[in-house]
Amino acid sequence: MTQSTIDFRSDNCGRAAPELLEALVTANTGTELGYGADSFTAALQARLADVFETPVRVYPVPTGTAANAVALAASCTPFGAVYCSADAHINTAECNATSFFGGGTKLTPVAGPHGKVDPAALESAIVTAGKGLAHKSQPAAVNLVQATDLGAVYSIDEIAAVAQVAHAHGLKVHMDGARFANALAALGCTPAEMSWRAGVDVLSLGVTKNGGLLADAIVVFNADTATSIGFHLRRAGLVWSKMRFASAQIIAYVENDLWLRLARQANAAAAAIAAQIGGLPGVTLLAPVQANELFIDMAPAALSGLADDGILYYRRGPRLARIVCRWDSSAADVAALVAGIRRHAAAA
Ligand SMILES: Cc1ncc(COP(=O)(O)O)c(C=O)c1O
Repeated sequence: MTQSTIDFRSDNCGRAAPELLEALVTANTGTELGYGADSFTAALQARLADVFETPVRVYPVPTGTAANAVALAASCTPFGAVYCSADAHINTAECNATSFFGGGTKLTPVAGPHGKVDPAALESAIVTAGKGLAHKSQPAAVNLVQATDLGAVYSIDEIAAVAQVAHAHGLKVHMDGARFANALAALGCTPAEMSWRAGVDVLSLGVTKNGGLLADAIVVFNADTATSIGFHLRRAGLVWSKMRFASAQIIAYVENDLWLRLARQANAAAAAIAAQIGGLPGVTLLAPVQANELFIDMAPAALSGLADDGILYYRRGPRLARIVCRWDSSAADVAALVAGIRRHAAAA
């Protein structure tokens, strides 16, 4: 186990929120049916319908990758194309899971700033795709990552603009919300505004990265998409028998706005770092810092200096550091990182 307390590697490296652990203990009484036929999973459906202000179908799943791949498989045909940012997690880090679960579904990167999909680039990709030609993948869905894989946040208008293009051509809109709460906290809007009201059909709702333990969820707003999800999940062995413990975590996650409180803490840590290093000579932020991640370009020697100080982070290239803040990132860790960046940037 890593003993260093200065850890900016990932939001996966943090603790689970005590409220979620307590929810597991509370759920550990009596007997309940398995495979989602329990009272906690029923309560979760009602709770998220309330949170999203619309009827939803919720499928708790073990990982964000499972949520993305199954949500997209259910939105596509095997010969379908999913449009996404080149930086999208489904394109860079999920080992072809979308294609595997979709039975051949192809990912097609489209241009856009800071990990976003640009609506004009999407339109152009769809109209030149060869719709109806049996030689070509058929446009099926678009994937938006909110917050993006470069730490930026789509505005509601930006989501709606992409969704409008997608729906005009009959495509489904999938949102990878591994950091949905971070984006929600950043925008200060409602969950409905940032999802189905802006045109999102199906959402991968992240929980684990923001104080969760062992569960994310697929949230379906468009009933057409929901019909095959249960079959995909079961066939892949992704349906917990003791589902109630996953559902209990997710109920606790949204209770009393816990998810927003945790996300605000992580976002505030990232904003504090950005405010203190922005404009320093030799330090360039790759994208606006709008959620809980920073992508920092610095001289290789400066990056090595940070690592030699014992500060943990991921290096994404000779000059690029990814810094991820968590709900449990401390002010002392933030101060140590900022001091290290200042010192090593000045020396490099
Ligand atoms: C944007 C994004 N989507 C999806 C995932 C996948 O989550 P998991 O690792 O739980 O499969 C991640 C994980 O890093 C992520 O950053």
